Amino acid sequence: MKAKLRQSIGLGLLAATLVLTAFGLSSIAQTVPPATPVAAPPAPIPFAAANLTPLGARALAANCAACHGTNGNSAGGAIPGLAGMNKEYFLNQLKAFKEGKREATVMHQIAKGYSDAESAAIADFFAAQKK
Ligand code: HEC
Repeated sequence: MKAKLRQSIGLGLLAATLVLTAFGLSSIAQTVPPATPVAAPPAPIPFAAANLTPLGARALAANCAACHGTNGNSAGGAIPGLAGMNKEYFLNQLKAFKEGKREATVMHQIAKGYSDAESAAIADFFAAQKK
């Protein structure tokens, strides 16, 4: 008799625990916010097109000023000036740097940073600069 009572109390406690656990879990489930749909990543900014405007080419060419001087007028020494440089020669040098056909200390890396269209825009900019 005692054993049966203990057994039914035990079962009652187990049932209560299960019910409470179920309620507990369902209340946790309700507090988790619903997954928000992830927006598609924005389209890449077409900056290359802006680089090909006259101001864009000038901005690109400004990256060369630290070594080749303002508007391609080098201070002399080891780094050649770019002002007034023939466009074809200029582009051939950049291509040779890119392809590793002309030995370089830094230009083989720098040249790789510009597309053909950007290089041409930079070449036009420097060709138009006075020495
Ligand atoms: C960190 C310094 C540095 C920067 C920045 C730099 N150059 Fe140069 N450039 C050189 C050096 C040094 C040489 C000689 C080759 C070598 O050693 O890499 C050279 C050579 C050149 C030549 C060949 C000139 C000739 O008379 O044959 C061209 C063309 C050129 N650079 C274009 C550019 C352009 C365009 C940029 C900017 C987009 C640029 N450089 C940025 C250092 C630089």
